[in-house]
Amino acid sequence: MNPPPSPVVLEYLDLDTPTLALPTSSLDSEERKRAARFHFDEDRRRFIHGRAWLRLRVAELLGMEPAAVAFTTVGERGKPAVAGTLRTFNLSHSAHHGLLAVHAGGLPLGVDVELARPFERAARIAARHFNAAEAAAVAAAPEGPEREAVFFRTWTRKEAYLKLTGLGLPGGLACVETGTEAAARSLRVPAEHGLASAWVTSLELPASVPTGLLAALAAPCAVPVDWRRG
Ligand SMILES: CC(C)(COP(=O)(O)OP(=O)(O)OC[C@H]1O[C@@H](n2cnc3c(N)ncnc32)[C@H](O)[C@@H]1OP(=O)(O)O)[C@@H](O)C(=O)NCCC(=O)NCCS
Repeated sequence: MNPPPSPVVLEYLDLDTPTLALPTSSLDSEERKRAARFHFDEDRRRFIHGRAWLRLRVAELLGMEPAAVAFTTVGERGKPAVAGTLRTFNLSHSAHHGLLAVHAGGLPLGVDVELARPFERAARIAARHFNAAEAAAVAAAPEGPEREAVFFRTWTRKEAYLKLTGLGLPGGLACVETGTEAAARSLRVPAEHGLASAWVTSLELPASVPTGLLAALAAPCAVPVDWRRG
């Protein structure tokens, strides 16, 4: 039997008021160009903080300076990766909330974080874009916060899977049934997605993370998680 993989390290960061000293001057010219294209200063600041945070953590893993980290992309839809190493990561943001997952052992990852919020169209969107059982579970939940929690939990599981594969949203939310529950699940993966297996779980967020957030992690197999603090 194979030993269990080493843990995925997860970290939450408030991208408006980061509690870390971020190396914002380490961004490369591509990242600066992207930053310059944001219409709103708020979005630009969040993007810069997210990239500086990512550089900081990847640089720590590789024992190099944040500015020396080189990013590349994998697949047709531009999934970001670190060039020339097996270390893997995936980043997600929802408003000013950031979630970063890093794996020193190189497991492909997908993460998603969403702020559960009032969403009157939850049942309608689920009926159109989720799998039948998932849409039924959303519709069966009492309207209001309970339904929204089921909807956003399901959304995060789906998006984590789509980010694991690198397909992103064009892959289609219904391409795999990721489930509406919080528990981990092994997934039935379509052959064309290029993964022998996949697994998704909703994440239990530490008490230090603001309430109202829902998050999920996807990987090719069951993997333990460690939350980084401080
Ligand atoms: C990947 C995708 C689902 C992310 O959507 P989002 O609402 O920005 O969600 P998140 O905040 O969770 O993720 C953003 C991060 O995902 C990562 N990412 C980008 N493309 C990715 C891909 N194809 N697969 C996995 N992760 C990806 C990046 O690190 C990005 O952070 P950055 O913008 O700071 O670089 C979406 O951008 C997508 O579908 N992209 C693929 C194709 C595309 O660009 N289509 C146009 C939009 S439909």
